[in-house]
Amino acid sequence: MSKISVAFFGAAVLYALTGMCLGIFMGTTGDHSLSPVHAHINLLGWATLALMGTFYGLAGAQTPTRLAWTNFVVSNLGNLISLPLLALLLKGDTSVAPIMGAGEVLLVLGMLIFGVSILSVARKPALA
Ligand code: HEM
Ligand code: HEM
Repeated sequence: MSKISVAFFGAAVLYALTGMCLGIFMGTTGDHSLSPVHAHINLLGWATLALMGTFYGLAGAQTPTRLAWTNFVVSNLGNLISLPLLALLLKGDTSVAPIMGAGEVLLVLGMLIFGVSILSVARKPALA
């Protein structure tokens, strides 16, 4: 399997472990105030990155490597900026909102780059 695919899955597992631990914390304490953080660590971290890794795994040798690594860096930066700041925002620190917004822009940009990667693969001649 390609390095880019392994990187996406490796990162996805780290988000899943973090999101699950937060879920267990919420379940045991009864404090669900960080539920949106838990949901999005799992959905933007685990689910989204694992789907992207799956696509690059399937694309194999047709993967546009530079675009795929840019996708990896931008999507992870978006997660690492926006998710901890969402936690701070939910705990009452509204001053983080603009930087969190910048993280969200990176998340959208990462998804756009992923879309461009898909188009790039689609334009290559199909392998047997
Ligand atoms: C050990 C694993 C997990 C535990 C213990 C756990 C626990 C929880 C808890 C306690 C809540 C709050 C429920 C509420 O406030 O009503 C929650 C919400 C949620 N969880 Fe998990 N979770 C786990 C894994 C996952 C995974 C893997 C995903 C997604 C791939 C996920 C997605 C969500 C979503 C989307 C919500 C929000 C639901 C809503 O707002 O209605 N969780 N989880
Ligand atoms: C830039 C990306 C995203 C932003 C800014 C965003 C924003 C939001 C917001 C503001 C809410 C309402 C939270 C609340 O009512 O407390 C929400 C809920 C939700 N979002 Fe997202 N979202 C994003 C990406 C995603 C993705 C990629 C998925 C699924 C793969 C997803 C799944 C959900 C679910 C299941 C809920 C309901 C659970 C909850 O209330 O916590 N979101 N999102």
